[in-house]
Amino acid sequence: MTTSQRAFLFFLHVFLLTLFPFNTASSARIEAEALLRWTGIRCNTIGSVSQIDLSDASLSGTIENLDFNSFPNLTTLNLNGNNFSGLIPSGIGSLSRLVFLDLSNNLLEGSIPPEIGNLTEIQYISLHNNNLAGEIPYQIGNFRKVEYLDFGSNFLETPDWSRIPSFPLLKHLSFYNNELHLGFPGFISGCLNLTFLDLSVNHLMGPVPESLLNNLVKLEHLNLTANSFEGPLSANLTKLSKLKDLRLANNFFTGYILDSISLISDLRILELFNNSFQGNIPASLGQLRSLERLDLRMNSLNSTIPYEIGQCTNLSYLALAQNLITGSLPLSLSNLTNLHELGLSDNSLSGEISPYFLSNWTKLTSLQIQNNSFTGELPSEIGKLTNLSYLYLCKNAFSGSIPPVIGNLRNLLRLDLSINHFSGEIPPTIGNLTKLLILQLFSNNLTGTIPPVIGDLLSLEVLDLSTNHLSGQLPESISTLGNLSNLSVLQLNSNKLSGTIPASICNLSFLEYLLLSNNTLEGSIPECLGNFSNALKLLHLKANHLQGLIPSGFTEGCALQSLNLNGNQLEGTLPQSLVHCQNLEVFDLGNNKIQDSFPFWAETLPQLQVLVLKSNRFHGAINPSKAAKLTFPTLQIFDISYNEFTGPLPTLYLKNLKGMINVKENTSEPGYWNSGYRESTTIIVKGLERQLERILKTLTTIDLSSNFFHGNIPSSIGGLNSLRYLNFSHNRLTGGIPPSLGDIPALESLDLSSNLLAGEIPWQLTRLTFLEVLNLSMNHLIGPIPQGGQFLTFDKSSYIGNPELCGNPILKKCEDDKKRQPALSALPEEVDGYVILDGMKWQVVLMGYGCGAVVGIILGLFLF
Ligand SMILES: *[C@@H]1O[C@H](CO)[C@@H](O)[C@H](O)[C@H]1NC(C)=O
Ligand SMILES: *[C@@H]1O[C@H](CO)[C@@H](O)[C@H](O)[C@H]1NC(C)=O
Ligand SMILES: *[C@@H]1O[C@H](CO)[C@@H](O)[C@H](O)[C@H]1NC(C)=O
Ligand SMILES: *[C@@H]1O[C@H](CO)[C@@H](O)[C@H](O)[C@H]1NC(C)=O
Ligand SMILES: *[C@@H]1O[C@H](CO)[C@@H](O)[C@H](O)[C@H]1NC(C)=O
Ligand SMILES: *[C@@H]1O[C@H](CO)[C@@H](O)[C@H](O)[C@H]1NC(C)=O
Ligand SMILES: *[C@@H]1O[C@H](CO)[C@@H](O)[C@H](O)[C@H]1NC(C)=O
Ligand SMILES: *[C@@H]1O[C@H](CO)[C@@H](O)[C@H](O)[C@H]1NC(C)=O
Ligand SMILES: *[C@@H]1O[C@H](CO)[C@@H](O)[C@H](O)[C@H]1NC(C)=O
Ligand SMILES: *[C@@H]1O[C@H](CO)[C@@H](O)[C@H](O)[C@H]1NC(C)=O
Ligand SMILES: *[C@@H]1O[C@H](CO)[C@@H](O)[C@H](O)[C@H]1NC(C)=O
Repeated sequence: MTTSQRAFLFFLHVFLLTLFPFNTASSARIEAEALLRWTGIRCNTIGSVSQIDLSDASLSGTIENLDFNSFPNLTTLNLNGNNFSGLIPSGIGSLSRLVFLDLSNNLLEGSIPPEIGNLTEIQYISLHNNNLAGEIPYQIGNFRKVEYLDFGSNFLETPDWSRIPSFPLLKHLSFYNNELHLGFPGFISGCLNLTFLDLSVNHLMGPVPESLLNNLVKLEHLNLTANSFEGPLSANLTKLSKLKDLRLANNFFTGYILDSISLISDLRILELFNNSFQGNIPASLGQLRSLERLDLRMNSLNSTIPYEIGQCTNLSYLALAQNLITGSLPLSLSNLTNLHELGLSDNSLSGEISPYFLSNWTKLTSLQIQNNSFTGELPSEIGKLTNLSYLYLCKNAFSGSIPPVIGNLRNLLRLDLSINHFSGEIPPTIGNLTKLLILQLFSNNLTGTIPPVIGDLLSLEVLDLSTNHLSGQLPESISTLGNLSNLSVLQLNSNKLSGTIPASICNLSFLEYLLLSNNTLEGSIPECLGNFSNALKLLHLKANHLQGLIPSGFTEGCALQSLNLNGNQLEGTLPQSLVHCQNLEVFDLGNNKIQDSFPFWAETLPQLQVLVLKSNRFHGAINPSKAAKLTFPTLQIFDISYNEFTGPLPTLYLKNLKGMINVKENTSEPGYWNSGYRESTTIIVKGLERQLERILKTLTTIDLSSNFFHGNIPSSIGGLNSLRYLNFSHNRLTGGIPPSLGDIPALESLDLSSNLLAGEIPWQLTRLTFLEVLNLSMNHLIGPIPQGGQFLTFDKSSYIGNPELCGNPILKKCEDDKKRQPALSALPEEVDGYVILDGMKWQVVLMGYGCGAVVGIILGLFLF
């Protein structure tokens, strides 16, 4: 070894040691010394270093202090795949003979130094996957020999492209996943040797330049995915006839998919998803015999699936979901024997699934055809798809029974057959699907009992068999369900299940959503349900025959967001321990036999939006604790009707219901309403159905009807300016109707009937432009009925039982009637406001979310 070589090795020793922080373990230093003996460093004949290859060497530290001047003859520097951080030093510009530079997959930051432009010999440069930011230095224009340039996965921004000339030898260019914006980088159209261009995941916009399409005839890979490019595809695209891989997804492209695309005959990958393409799926695609991946999802394609697609026998991935595709599946698709994934969901496809398809698609791992109009029985050939992991058939019109051969699909992770017309029993072979995570059979016509083998599906996280006709006792099946230690969603609501709820259900310690509503369960609620899990967010047992007490052991950390026990025969008092459930948003105990005073502890629950105590035996006066500053801060539905409450109206509460004051339409709140559990609710008032999903957040109701409240209606009620439904009927209220009611612009329904109210009807009520239902009957009101506004739409049933009222629409004329305007027009007699208002009903329509890729389950909030 010569002196200069020894000197160099000494230098390198120091260099490598500086790569490690001084406090690193001595083993790291030993490693560093070992690296010196490693062959990653090559010298040229005269002994100066020409190559440094330290890729994937687990090195960390910075390279800022490296003295690049010591390596004037370096041609290769490869630090790929380490943990180097800090800046790229400007001294890199002294490596003027560098041909190969790979700094990719490190943690380098700051901007790229303009001195990099000194690397005029560079042929390969990759800075891929660092944290580099700032503008790309235009000095890269000096790379006259570069063939491979990859600056992908950084935070780089658009420079003045006009200062960067084209690169004559460049073959591979990637600016993938940066912060580039504005129009297409102009220099690219002149890089005539390009075969690979990836500009995906930036913010580039405008059209794709014709010059690019006309010039870059050697391109094999073009990826413009996830930008803001727009406009129709130019016919010049087909001049890129060597393309193997064309990805234009996630942009704003419009117009038709070119018929002439078949001229790009070597195309293997065609991704156009999430644009605005319309019209046909071109039959000419059938000529692309090399096509392996065709992804046209999320456009507005409205044709049938052309027969010719069946000729693309190399297809392994075919995705046409979320278009407007019609017709049945052409039989030719049975020739696609290499399909691994087939996604046709969310279209208008119809017809039956031919057994030929299922016989031939044996390689399928994912079959997603949900939300179409497929009919017929599921052929037993489905049992041949033994590689399937995902089978989504939900929201179609499949009928017949679930074929028992489904038990062959042992690789299934998710099986969703919900919202179809499947009938018969759940085949016990389903117990063979031991990898299943999600099993959804809801909203079918299934009968029989829940097969106990479901307890063998030990990986199961979601089990939804709701809205079927399943019967039988819960105990046997459920106690085996107790083994499902990963189960977080159990939905068996809306069936015909009978018997009691076994305490073994409390073994499901990860359960978050438990819905057993609308069955015929009897017996008492297991006491353990109060505190078996701090995961439980939702407990719905409504509309059963449950008796006994509400579990009392709710503990600190209770996570319940919704507790609905409406429509049972529960008795006793409310457990005080519910105050530990500080996340409660919905609390519905309506239609039971609870005997208690008003639950004052609930007034401080910070999230409570729905409080329904309707039709129980609650009693006593409601005198809010004056100490509490904020009472029911988020309450929007307050229904304590049909109880035995006495005393004056709870004025202090009514005044302070912040959830009914200045509610904004678009506020999106976190929590129950926005949980993965989507809800669709329909309210029927006066024969009008409205979708409540949209207005749930702004729906506001106060119903204190059918109690023994007495005294005046406080005029402060007029401050609840977002209130929509107000019902004080069937009490013993006295005094006048406060004119301030006219200050609630949102009010749609007002029922003050069957009280002892006196005086005139305040004319201010004519300001209520949304008032659809008014019932003032059975009071002691006197004088003229206000004429104007919505009052012109109410008929006499709104006023019956007030003999001293006069004027339209009742027959009795007011004394000075002659001076008044005649009624504008005759009103229909058939308005049945009274009846409907009295029986005001909430109805919930269960709808099919949870189909397909997103885990979402249906639940309904029933307020009887
Ligand atoms: C670099 O190479 C040149 C010859 O090409 C040689 O004269 C010079 O000494 C080398 N420099 C170093 C530091 O080895
Ligand atoms: C860039 O190269 C020039 C000569 O080619 C040299 O004078 C200059 O020092 C180099 N810059 C850096 C930062 O190394
Ligand atoms: C493409 O690269 C080759 C060398 O690989 C070169 O000879 C040729 O001139 C380049 N073509 C263009 C159009 O720049
Ligand atoms: C873009 O396409 C290239 C190949 O053409 C591929 O390697 C890369 O993963 C693609 N990027 C995205 C975001 O699809
Ligand atoms: C295709 O490119 C040629 C040449 O640049 C141009 O004249 C023509 O208008 C382009 N075609 C379309 C459809 O833009
Ligand atoms: C398909 O869409 C195109 C373009 O929007 C329209 O012209 C055509 O009538 C549609 N065809 C059908 C069958 O709806
Ligand atoms: C499947 O492919 C074969 C061979 O190309 C062809 O003869 C047959 O007609 C195709 N079947 C269908 C249903 O298209
Ligand atoms: C696929 O199904 C067709 C019926 O459409 C059948 O004729 C053909 O033999 C099957 N092809 C293969 C490879 O199984
Ligand atoms: C399911 O497993 C049982 C044994 O548990 C077996 O007897 C039956 O044949 C299997 N059925 C299917 C369809 O795999
Ligand atoms: C459900 O099955 C019953 C017979 O079991 C049948 O009368 C009814 O029409 C079916 N309903 C649907 C929606 O398929
Ligand atoms: C109760 O369950 C039955 C049976 O599934 C269903 O038809 C009915 O709509 C459900 N009722 C409610 C209110 O959900």
